[in-house]
Amino acid sequence: MSDILVHTEAGVTTLTFNRPDKKNSITAAMYAALADALEAAEADPAVRCVLFQGNETTFSAGNDIGDFLNNPPATQDSPVFRFLRGIAQFSKPALAVVCGPAVGIGTTLLFHCDLVYAGDNAAFSMPFVNLGLCPEAASSLLVPQMLGYHRAAEALLLGEPFMAEAALEVGLVNRVLPPMEAAGYAQAVARKLAAKPISSLIETKRLMKKSQSQLVMAQMAEEGVSFGRMLGEPAAKEAFGAFMERRKPDFSKV
Ligand code: COA
Repeated sequence: MSDILVHTEAGVTTLTFNRPDKKNSITAAMYAALADALEAAEADPAVRCVLFQGNETTFSAGNDIGDFLNNPPATQDSPVFRFLRGIAQFSKPALAVVCGPAVGIGTTLLFHCDLVYAGDNAAFSMPFVNLGLCPEAASSLLVPQMLGYHRAAEALLLGEPFMAEAALEVGLVNRVLPPMEAAGYAQAVARKLAAKPISSLIETKRLMKKSQSQLVMAQMAEEGVSFGRMLGEPAAKEAFGAFMERRKPDFSKV
């Protein structure tokens, strides 16, 4: 079984994180598969929208830390950056259904989705600072816009998780459901969208996003340069080493 499942039915391409033993953490190969699937969905007129999902207990633990250490994204064409540009520029509606932890990119990708549904067990976190890194996916722009600056600081500077109800309150998710019902509900909404005229969906999304699409891409590129540099610096090495060795990181010397 592939770590990313791609299934198209009734105009909906469903992209499933399928690496449950590693909490659906995402390797470079998985980013490449996601980027390819988005490109294919963009090009295929039979596809009207995409839906990201994990399973009832885990959305995604974010970047696979070991893989990131061994294969850091070297250029802007690396799979992670291809995926980020793909989701930021995806012209058709994108949906996500989140149950359980959504860490790092598991949360930041949601800011590029048009509709987000959550199980009541969803936990969102963006612990980039705790990993010696900085935000990605234009989250340094989009999180303050949606949450307001001070709540964004809690999420991005402190790296504190927030739960489904808080995500609903700030508008990051559209609806909170029991985890067993969330995927079915999101799939039904996706099919409802897929039955609408695609040209109207695409034009409406373009118009809603137009005022800041260039800003988003510029922020993402700047974050990418910093993120790539910081991956090789002592703070990230200490944080990632601590994760692998299952100990608390010690940032007192970095
Ligand atoms: N990268 C690589 N492996 C990961 C991972 C990640 N981001 N997240 C979890 N795993 C692996 C664990 O190493 C463990 O592997 P093992 O069984 O071979 O030891 C397995 O997945 C289960 O993880 P575990 O931590 O035991 O699960 P949990 O239910 O207690 O906690 C999380 C789940 C997601 C809260 C926790 O795994 C976590 O915080 N992960 C790191 C998240 C992170 O910092 N991501 C990077 C964002 S940039």
